[in-house]
Amino acid sequence: MKSRPRKSKHEPLACLILAAGQGTRMNSVKNKVLHTLLGVPMAAYAVERARDIGAAMIVTVLGHQKDEVTRVLESRFGPGTITVVEQKEQKGTGHAVRLGLRPLATFDGLVVILYGDVPLLRAETLAALVESAGKSGSLAMLTSVVRDPTGYGRVVRDDTGLIREVVEHKDATHAQHRIAEVNGGIYAAPADFLRKATAKLSPHNAQGEYYLTEIVARAAATIGVVSVQVAAEEMAGVNDREQLVAAERILVARIVREHGKVATFRAPRHVYLEATVTIEPDAEIGRNVVLRGRTHVGAFARIDDGVILTNAVVGRGAHVLPYCVVTDSLIGEGAKVGPFAHLRPGTELGPDVHVGNFVETKKTRLGRGSKANHLTYLGDTIVGEKVNVGAGTITCNYNGYEKQQTIIEDGAFIGSDTQLVAPVRVGKRAVVAAGATIIEDVRPGVLAISRVPCKQIDGYADRLAARYPSKKPG
Ligand code: UD1
Ligand code: CA
Repeated sequence: MKSRPRKSKHEPLACLILAAGQGTRMNSVKNKVLHTLLGVPMAAYAVERARDIGAAMIVTVLGHQKDEVTRVLESRFGPGTITVVEQKEQKGTGHAVRLGLRPLATFDGLVVILYGDVPLLRAETLAALVESAGKSGSLAMLTSVVRDPTGYGRVVRDDTGLIREVVEHKDATHAQHRIAEVNGGIYAAPADFLRKATAKLSPHNAQGEYYLTEIVARAAATIGVVSVQVAAEEMAGVNDREQLVAAERILVARIVREHGKVATFRAPRHVYLEATVTIEPDAEIGRNVVLRGRTHVGAFARIDDGVILTNAVVGRGAHVLPYCVVTDSLIGEGAKVGPFAHLRPGTELGPDVHVGNFVETKKTRLGRGSKANHLTYLGDTIVGEKVNVGAGTITCNYNGYEKQQTIIEDGAFIGSDTQLVAPVRVGKRAVVAAGATIIEDVRPGVLAISRVPCKQIDGYADRLAARYPSKKPG
């Protein structure tokens, strides 16, 4: 049974994603939120979270490279998924939210505020935040108790433990600097409250900005404030490249931890795995393995050290030996690939196929039990079952203008160092002798041999030596 799409109990929900900043510390021509983690642009993480909680409307506040960011998000999520509001001048988070609320002028529900540069926020955490805002009718905010609160807004609570306000680091007193509970900057609150609260902000503070954090004191005096505590990691913003890759490592660790419940990772800290990858029980993954895109690893499959799989489907019990590169390809059950094989797009290996070292395939199918074990190029080729392709066999599939097909039928034997000049077909159980250049179809069951006769000339070595009396050979 298919699970129903997750629906919020507090519908309707809207999300505001703030991402107008330039991200100066990335030192990049590209906007910070377009840098990728696990192959996914940073800004897309916030959009994913908004979709997870079933937001009916997603508004993004953009400034720097607004058009480029919009284009990337639209190509990912489809046009119309996101409403873009431009914030030309960055006057602070409060100003950004005020602008972001414009398309939500008549919206009556909960608004969740997210950031384009906080990719580690978990769906469950956000759901809990929405839940507590919905239940209480208050402003719900994420907070975290951290070892080093420097730079963050501090959460000021009263004697009874209720949140009174948030004070920015630059505006805090000495006593407040010692508060270890910090503001995550992520909130859920009724739209009506946010509209009123952000209309009244003033920039009279240390940074001369419109602080969104002022809404906390306002909520404390009106609708109330509730908090959801999280690990600091989840609310951490990414500001430079070091933080980018550190955040990516955390995402990988989460994915590995999940898959690691059923599959064995020999070196869990030394793999790269994208969220879209699927792995079946009892698979085994080696060191420095990279699994990207829609890669699927079947049960009992072994992926050895240094293998890079991109959109590769590996069948049950298959074994990919070290340092293979496989892209947009299928590897059948029980097949054995590598070491050092390169399976390029459109490769389909049937069950129990063996493809060995320094073999390259492209748009090529090998049927059950066929072998190409050494130093071979097969391009645009259909290989039947139980075929043996000898070492150094090359399909000549390209004449400089177009690609041509080679067909090798069931049970054929291709001797070593053969060139198959496409288009060409080798019939069932035909034997092609080593060193052949096959330029015409080979009939089933024959021996095809194309060799220059070998001539042996007596006494040649001595005659050659006589030509160079002063030199020793070698
Ligand atoms: C904010 C909070 C702080 C909290 C911290 C958590 C305020 C005033 N402070 O501080 O209490 O501890 O987050 O990380 O809210 N942005 C805009 N337009 C603007 C300003 C910011 O879109 O005019 C976006 C930025 O692109 C960024 C995000 O809002 O993604 C946060 O802005 P930033 O200035 O970094 O806030 P902090 O100083 O980190
Ligand atoms: Ca800042």
